Amino acid sequence: MISMATPKQGDLLSKLEGHEIGIAELDAQHGQLFDFLAELKALRGKRYSFSAATNLLGRLAEFAKLHFAIEESMMRLLGYPDIEAHVEAHRQLSKQILSFRSHLINEDLAAQLQGFIEKWLIEHIDNVDRKLVNHFLQAHVLQS
Ligand SMILES: [Fe+2]
Ligand SMILES: [Fe+2]
Repeated sequence: MISMATPKQGDLLSKLEGHEIGIAELDAQHGQLFDFLAELKALRGKRYSFSAATNLLGRLAEFAKLHFAIEESMMRLLGYPDIEAHVEAHRQLSKQILSFRSHLINEDLAAQLQGFIEKWLIEHIDNVDRKLVNHFLQAHVLQS
């Protein structure tokens, strides 16, 4: 059984606010992804180190992989029609995170990457993940 971290208070919740899709488990995972980005942001200044940034990005990449796998399983189980494009979007981000990982030599590059991932996540959640909800509702899986 996979146990998921739940979002913490503060920066994370304000980031997630307005971007909830209404599937609690996925919202919690999206919150966790924002939390990793907040941690990366917090490494600024004297706290910045290449190893801390690459370590954090490695953990973010691992968690994103898990989250994507869960979403993709749900899509497969429920016969979601646009699965291929959605999976491809996940694959592209995973690839980009890993290719950027070795370039975090200073905090400016880390900040650029953090901004890039944050923008990607918000756009993906609002425009791509949100489309899952209607399909899942039609499949009656969200109705109690
Ligand atoms: Fe997602
Ligand atoms: Fe997604």
